[in-house]
Amino acid sequence: MADQEIVNIISAQEEVYPPPPDVVARARIKDREALSQFAADHPEQFWAERAEELEWYRKWDKVLDDSNKPFFKWFVGGRFNIVHNALDRHMNTWRKNKVAYIWQGEDYSERAISYAELNREVCKFANVLKSLGVQKGDRVTIYMGRVIELPVAMLACAKIGAVHSVVYGGFSVQALAGRILDSQSKVLITCDGAYVNGKLVELKQIADDAIKEAPIVEKVVVYKRTGHPVGWVEGRDHWWHELMKDASPVCETEVTDAEDPLFILYTSGSTGKPKALLHTHGGYAVYTYTTMRYVFDVQDEDRWWCAADPGWITGHSYIVYAPLMNGVTSIMYEGGPAYPAPDRWWQIAEQYRVTILYCAPTAIRGLMRFGPEWPQKHDLSSLRLLGSVGEPINPEAWRWYHTYIGGGRCPIMDTWWQTETGGFMITPLPVTPLKPGSATKPFFGIRAEVVDDEGRPVPPNEEGYLTILTPWPGMARTIYGDPDRYVQTYWARYPGRYFTGDSARVDQDGYFWIIGRVDDVLKVSGYRLGTAEVESALVSHPAVAEAAAIGLPHEVRGNAIYTYVILRAGYEGSPALAEELRQHVAKVMGPIARPEKVEFVSKLPKTRSGKIMRRVLKARALGLPEGDLTTLEE
Ligand code: PRX
Repeated sequence: MADQEIVNIISAQEEVYPPPPDVVARARIKDREALSQFAADHPEQFWAERAEELEWYRKWDKVLDDSNKPFFKWFVGGRFNIVHNALDRHMNTWRKNKVAYIWQGEDYSERAISYAELNREVCKFANVLKSLGVQKGDRVTIYMGRVIELPVAMLACAKIGAVHSVVYGGFSVQALAGRILDSQSKVLITCDGAYVNGKLVELKQIADDAIKEAPIVEKVVVYKRTGHPVGWVEGRDHWWHELMKDASPVCETEVTDAEDPLFILYTSGSTGKPKALLHTHGGYAVYTYTTMRYVFDVQDEDRWWCAADPGWITGHSYIVYAPLMNGVTSIMYEGGPAYPAPDRWWQIAEQYRVTILYCAPTAIRGLMRFGPEWPQKHDLSSLRLLGSVGEPINPEAWRWYHTYIGGGRCPIMDTWWQTETGGFMITPLPVTPLKPGSATKPFFGIRAEVVDDEGRPVPPNEEGYLTILTPWPGMARTIYGDPDRYVQTYWARYPGRYFTGDSARVDQDGYFWIIGRVDDVLKVSGYRLGTAEVESALVSHPAVAEAAAIGLPHEVRGNAIYTYVILRAGYEGSPALAEELRQHVAKVMGPIARPEKVEFVSKLPKTRSGKIMRRVLKARALGLPEGDLTTLEE
């Protein structure tokens, strides 16, 4: 971290933004402290009351079952389907005529879909899935661009009790193939292509290449977005619109158990193999519904825009499930934030009179570079709340966002959470006094603590590891197919505590300041990548014998990937080969993983047991002291 940035953060700790009176006046929760205390004293009652706000086919027998830690269960015995709450129950109210999604393509095409129409599409697609042989519990991989049919596909799976596994459309062949194989998906749903930053992304082509490596896929459904020619395998491939033509719009929602699996979502960890976090119908629904309601204070007249990708947890929770359960109108935009000009987002916010914008610091930093004149061209007065997620927001970006996007009026909800947590964990509420760069305090029912190596709480303002002491309904239940890894990764390091993998500080006012990952996970433009995945992509190139990847600070992207490569005998390092390796990583993993730099080396710093010491590489690259080298072999 640069000295200037440290000075900025220290001064931000003293810089407090009290909530504006009009925000306080309309806020659902006015006394955060009182409700926090209640939830801490009576967590099960608190969550049971939240669960009562949703519709159950059958009420639970027990709110929390902690008899087999860390495999907690919530709302045990309850019968519940999240889709019943996201769609079916709205069909009996005026809300059926409300707009669920307003969509804008990168090419400015527009669509709007009401709750009733969305429900009809979901019912039809659920019948399509059944006709393809998909049954309760089966995994279905979804690899699509940002189109309304992506939530339709997710909801259709959930409706029939199938388990969706969405793979981010920016990932490529190897990442997709690995996730199809790990989840054993026989059905893949994709698009012919997508438009991002003016370019055509060949989703169907990538899917075809991935299936060659994962030949278990028996059926592929292709939604036509771009209309460009694509390869076709007769018998295996089907057009979405053709299957939908004859599908019945009537489909009963499966009466699932509260603890039945809803989806798996892969995320990077410290090994090359991504982890499939498993979330369930009941607890996840209660948690995402409540967090969105209390943190963003969503009301019927809101126009909510979560600008994340549906393929990541942020999109699952806060583009698809929580907004629909809360019955709000969401904006969905297909393309890049600065395409064709740096005011594309601001044009959309103005055009649709967006009231709440939730996005990532990397996007703010990227758009900030172009100067305030771009947002100033637009009337952003409809905004009343802003949000931030995915990585720490530096105070400078926070202030820019607050001043130029929020017009100084809109509090910023800096929400800290993870794929594993399902929903917001440490977060402001609209009534919370804000400090730029701090996610403020734990949500209701969450007890968080920063500890040292031995698990002892550290004093205020000291850095340590962020841990959670209480179970919560939205927590992932396990790693699909690998419960041992779930225990090892999250629960073994500090017995009785969930280990987040992040470091943090708590200041004298009890405000949490997230510092960053302490494992081999990188945040590049808010996307989570494992150094080991980048390394394995490099090693899959014939020229590469060994590789190491590290993250170095980057002004816009947060981290940039630097790689060190040992070549196989017979290969010579050259700028052309370095470029070829960068492109190779982008091809196998996806463009977000493309290394900033490939450096050829003859040795890598390793421990005696052969583990690459990435911190040594990092210290060297930054010109910092290399620390304790006693375990270094060479
Ligand atoms: O390091 C933290 C960072 O993102 C990680 C979780 O990444 P992922 O599972 O991809 O989920 C991202 C969207 C929820 C965390 O371990 N992170 C997330 N939100 C914040 C954050 N770091 C600081 N401040 C945040 N608000």
